Amino acid sequence: MVSVTRSVFGELPSGAGTVEKFQLQSDLLRVDIISWGCTITALEVKDRQGRASDVVLGFAELEGYLQKQPYFGAVIGRVANRIAKGTFMLDGKEFQLPINRGPNSLHGGLWGFDKVLWSPQVLPNGVQFSRVSPDGEEGYPGELKVWVTYTLDGGELMVNYRAQTSRTTPVSLTNHSYFNLAGQGSPNIYDHEVTIEADAFLPVNEALIPTGEVAPVQGTAFDLRQPVELGKHLQQFSIDGFDHNFCLKQSKEKHFCARVRHAASGRVLEVYTTQPGVQFYTANFLDGTLKGKGGAVYPKHCGFCLETQNWPNAVNQSNFPPVLLRPEEEYNHTTWFKFSVA
Ligand code: GLA
Repeated sequence: MVSVTRSVFGELPSGAGTVEKFQLQSDLLRVDIISWGCTITALEVKDRQGRASDVVLGFAELEGYLQKQPYFGAVIGRVANRIAKGTFMLDGKEFQLPINRGPNSLHGGLWGFDKVLWSPQVLPNGVQFSRVSPDGEEGYPGELKVWVTYTLDGGELMVNYRAQTSRTTPVSLTNHSYFNLAGQGSPNIYDHEVTIEADAFLPVNEALIPTGEVAPVQGTAFDLRQPVELGKHLQQFSIDGFDHNFCLKQSKEKHFCARVRHAASGRVLEVYTTQPGVQFYTANFLDGTLKGKGGAVYPKHCGFCLETQNWPNAVNQSNFPPVLLRPEEEYNHTTWFKFSVA
């Protein structure tokens, strides 16, 4: 049994609208999602002893989400991650997007899908958000109709993304939740055990753009096919964290992506997806300056993201999975976040 409760979360400045909150509850999970950016603001999961903790970083109030902050819990679009120099060619025409991170376009631009109000519709076991991204929004071609649907089933949260376009455009949608299975506000994720089902990853240049090489993980710090304890692993390989795309099975069927286990609480998160990639990000850019829920501070490495998506900068890399959506097609991807205790 899933219940869905609707309430007001906050008012946008200058009468720009009301942000609503949808609370989905099963006997195992409780998740709060707001209509600003389709953002997951809380996710309560029980531990081995049946004690619930909120395992996602975020803010108690709308104001937190409106300040400059690193996409906590939000849906990212029109194209997740980076497009090199914000430019690409399509049908012989060059497109230039706003540059918003170093020399690149990151996460849909200045006003991406995380920074807009979506129209909600309550479902028996979840909530569906929709919006129309106008032709030319953030420099992207074509009017894009988008639907993001969250549904809960026991310990599993499913997120489905659909889109239709009036002109050919790149599309790659994801959710940017930061998890800490010890409970949000815990200082780091070093005691988390991580497995990612990927034989290859994408090396990046100094601007975090993939070089184009699809590198085998074998014998590198990126071989996470067997569980590793994150803190020890970072030390062993002397690396400062992950912010990389791992190449998943390229099948549009549901496939296993990753498993993260927090031994002390027993909480386990398994991710399944239809997407060809996952950006594993260990919150390297957090620096403890943001004030989160319950007085939490968020230092570097206090959370992890598993952003299932197409490979970064695919629009400029012909050897990466196709990212273009054409008018006669439908974009349709699903990711499952499955929580359990072990
Ligand atoms: C993604 C990117 C990171 C960073 C975060 C948000 O994970 O890959 O480089 O931009 O989003 O700060």
